[in-house]
Amino acid sequence: MIYLDNAATTLQKPSCVGQAMLDALEHAGNPGRGAHEPTLHAARIVYHARETLATLFHAESPDCIAFTANVTQALNTALCGLVRPGDHVITTVCEHNSVLRPLYRLREQGAQVSFVEVDDAGRLRYGQFERLLRPNTRFVAVTHASNVTGNLTDLAFVSAFAKKHGLTLVVDAAQTAGARPIDVQALGVDVLCFTGHKALLGPQGTGILLCFAQPKPLLCGGTGSQSVLQDMPEELPDRLEAGTHNVPGIAGLLAGIRYLSAQGVENIERRERRLAQRLTAQLRAEPRLEVFASPDPACQTAVLSVRCRDMDSELLAQKLAQYGIAVRAGLHCAPVAHRTAGTLETGTVRLSLSPFNTDAEIARTARVFHEILRTG
Ligand code: ALA
Repeated sequence: MIYLDNAATTLQKPSCVGQAMLDALEHAGNPGRGAHEPTLHAARIVYHARETLATLFHAESPDCIAFTANVTQALNTALCGLVRPGDHVITTVCEHNSVLRPLYRLREQGAQVSFVEVDDAGRLRYGQFERLLRPNTRFVAVTHASNVTGNLTDLAFVSAFAKKHGLTLVVDAAQTAGARPIDVQALGVDVLCFTGHKALLGPQGTGILLCFAQPKPLLCGGTGSQSVLQDMPEELPDRLEAGTHNVPGIAGLLAGIRYLSAQGVENIERRERRLAQRLTAQLRAEPRLEVFASPDPACQTAVLSVRCRDMDSELLAQKLAQYGIAVRAGLHCAPVAHRTAGTLETGTVRLSLSPFNTDAEIARTARVFHEILRTG
């Protein structure tokens, strides 16, 4: 199989990930809940994972890293725990439902939400940020890259805007964490939400909230610390981590990040970008296809979408599957992005790469598209 659905989850993981998970299942107790060796072993795994993530994303301390079940829980914690009735949030039409749905709920509770649009090439209209500003604007919530088109957000621009107006910047890095370098301090990001199971090569069930703010916790429960308090402890990360951690998942994530760091995120990004550009160019040459990707390769992740002018997207994805090529068709949980692109009715076929894709796979994918479009 040629697996090109890495924006949903990476499937091929380094073998060290599974081994670390198995070791944790067999040897890790409940972290922070005792002084015996299994609990200390679990605590070391969780702490090393925090430390490694803090280093990778240039956070000032491992305490800024809170583990969640997935990026959706991280985003819900950040948005629902920070935004108050009467606050105005500026977001974008590129967002995934993990940002949109919490914001719609907050809007029902009295918050206000405005959307920055995109141009015909799918690039954010950056001039709209200033125009959408209101006296009660408190937050900017943006995806770092569209999970539909792979278009990257210029975080330096958005961060400068947020800093100029004293706004809290919340970033959904589900599609970029591990796929490109991110320095939260240099970029002035207040909250970075991401998942462990995509480009960080960890298992599903791992999300991360990298937080310099103090959201109200979404969940309350045991933390193994300050148990006498009736509320959650004030300190991060305990404040945001109620209940037992997913220690096998975190162990696998730690192994995935160590593998990734040894390869170098910059090297992986360079390689994936080269393969994605090659695929984009070959698909653009197919007259029956529309390609949704940035015209500027520097503003593009290794994700792109296509639509056949006269074939249903689901059918095209099924035909690709028959040739052993795994992609995702539909709306990708990003309905506003699709409405903006004019693809809400048809959806698109999305192709997304990982460090494990090869030149030969990209060449074969282009040939299979050609074959399907010639005959189908
Ligand atoms: N958010 C994931 C995707 O884009 C699941 O496919």
